[in-house]
Amino acid sequence: MHKVAVIVGSKRPASVNRKLARAIAKLAAPKLAFTFVDIAGLPMYDDDLWQDPPAGVLRFKAEVEAADAVLIATPEYNRSIPALLKNAIDWGSRPYGKSSWTGKPTAVIGASPGVIGTAAAQQHLKAIVPVLGGHLLPQPEVYFSMRPGLIDDNDEVTNADTKAFLEGFVAKFAAFVALMRPAG
Ligand code: FNR
Repeated sequence: MHKVAVIVGSKRPASVNRKLARAIAKLAAPKLAFTFVDIAGLPMYDDDLWQDPPAGVLRFKAEVEAADAVLIATPEYNRSIPALLKNAIDWGSRPYGKSSWTGKPTAVIGASPGVIGTAAAQQHLKAIVPVLGGHLLPQPEVYFSMRPGLIDDNDEVTNADTKAFLEGFVAKFAAFVALMRPAG
C-alpha cells in the first residue's frame, strides 16, 4: 500500500485541518496508509544549523522521504499559509539539491470556519509545491468550510454529500499516487 506523509499546518489539538485530515485518512484506509508527521517541534529555519543539523529536522526529512506521497492540510492565516507550515516546507527543501519533496505526488487541502475554506492560502501553497520538486494533484480542489458536527468525534463525516465528495478526492489522489509511483 502506498504511504502518505500528512502535514497539518496547525499545532492546535482541536485544529479543523487536523480533523479534516483525520477524516480523510479514515476514508482512505483501504487504499493509502497515512502517517501524520509532526512539524510543531521544528526550530525556526536557520541555514547555519545545517553545520550540525538538529535531530528533529533530520527525523522530519526522513519521515517525508519514507513516504510515497504527501498530503498538506493548510489553515489560512491572513490569506496565506501559517508560518509553522512554511517553516516545515523550508526545512524539507534544504540542503540545496536534497529536497525531501522531490518527486512526491502532493495534494493540498484546507479547512476553515469561514466560507472560502482556505482558497487564498491554497493558491499560495499550490505555487510553492512545484518549486519544491513535488507533483501537484490539480483536481479535485478541497476548500473545506468546517461546520460544527460535520465531522464527528470519531472522525466520521456526518453529511452524505460531503462524505461522497471526500471519497471522490481520495479516489483521485490514490490514482494519482499510483500513476506517479507505480512501484510503491
Ligand atoms: C485566521 N483565520 C482566517 N480564516 C480565513 O478563512 N482566512 C484568513 O485569512 C484567516 N486569517 C487568520 C489569521 C490568524 C492569525 C488566525 C489565528 C486565524 C481563522 C482560521 O481559519 C481559524 O482560526 C482556523 O480554525 C485555523 O485552522 P486550525 O488551526 O483550526 O486548523
